[in-house]
Amino acid sequence: MSSIPPRYSRITGTGSFLPPDRLSNEALAARLARDGIETSDQWIVERTGIRARHFAAADVTSSDLALPAARHALEAAGRSAAEVDLIIVATSTPDMVFPSTACLLQRKLGVAGCAAFDVQAVCSGFVYALTVADAMIRTGAATCALVVGTEVFSRILDFKDRTTCVLFGDGAGAVVLEASDQPGLLASELHADGRHVEILCTPGTVSGGQVLGDPLLKMDGQAVFKLAVGVLESAARAVLAKAGRSEADIDWLIPHQANIRIMQGTAKKLKLPMDKLVVTVDEHGNTSAASIPLALDVAVRSGRIRRGDTVMLEGVGGGFTWGAVLLDY
Ligand code: ACO
Repeated sequence: MSSIPPRYSRITGTGSFLPPDRLSNEALAARLARDGIETSDQWIVERTGIRARHFAAADVTSSDLALPAARHALEAAGRSAAEVDLIIVATSTPDMVFPSTACLLQRKLGVAGCAAFDVQAVCSGFVYALTVADAMIRTGAATCALVVGTEVFSRILDFKDRTTCVLFGDGAGAVVLEASDQPGLLASELHADGRHVEILCTPGTVSGGQVLGDPLLKMDGQAVFKLAVGVLESAARAVLAKAGRSEADIDWLIPHQANIRIMQGTAKKLKLPMDKLVVTVDEHGNTSAASIPLALDVAVRSGRIRRGDTVMLEGVGGGFTWGAVLLDY
């Protein structure tokens, strides 16, 4: 009796997009100073490693940023949008309450019929979305998935709060994930702990035609910092154990691009040299669900990540949520 061959998923193309309006720390500091808010390039660089961020124009939405990122990923994979049978978009800044940003992206791609939905896990969103797409491909529910992280965090920033507004930016990243007889994604780990909702949240909601509660981002930076380094280490170790690999097997670590000090802390705990980390936070700040696919695309297109390299992706964010994916690129 012939057995069914195992089915895996594999990334076949990556893409990303940053809106053209780039704001350096100096430019942001000058803008905040007009409202009497003091900050400096030196403070932001020393505490976060961020040097600039990109902000989308007022009428540009998450699906608008997702479209060029998705097109670049499809082009890199040699696929047309019509060949995609699953679209998952990770975002916390959707275009509308509903329908999903994935459905809006599907329409902008000029296709119809395939499954499309959003995943909401804040900065862990891309790792969550990739894990869901991998599971759907392994079970035969999908064959060619477009997985996107896209955000316009500038919409939910409080520009009177210097402790948060200097940290975030807008952007999008995407991958095409396809069925393969070779892995591909080796293992993933997803976690959440809703007891920590308050340390990072945007608590407002829409009700009766009005916004109820505060619609701007709130963060307890030190609480987030402490939790992030711990869970990123435990998720990394767990995903390596699941895949039967060790720290020495990691060619590239792509942590969520939030803060260089969180990334340095994670690398130290895993005893990884900093040159194995992909770092793009300096150029775009924290783009939440977009940050990992953005960094992945930059590293692939610059020739650093090559076919066969073992790559770990790690997300952490509001919820509190966290997770890791280990893959052979
Ligand atoms: N410019 C100048 N001074 C500032 C600024 C600023 N933008 N922001 C805060 N300060 C001041 C504070 O007022 C404080 O002044 P004081 O000592 O006179 O009271 C001083 O700097 C130190 O403030 P802290 O909050 O203690 O600074 P800390 O060293 O903790 O750094 C930071 C703050 C960068 C936010 C840090 O806590 C951090 O990185 N946390 C993790 C945040 C993060 O990465 N979140 C995202 C991850 S999850 C996700 O992506 C959704």
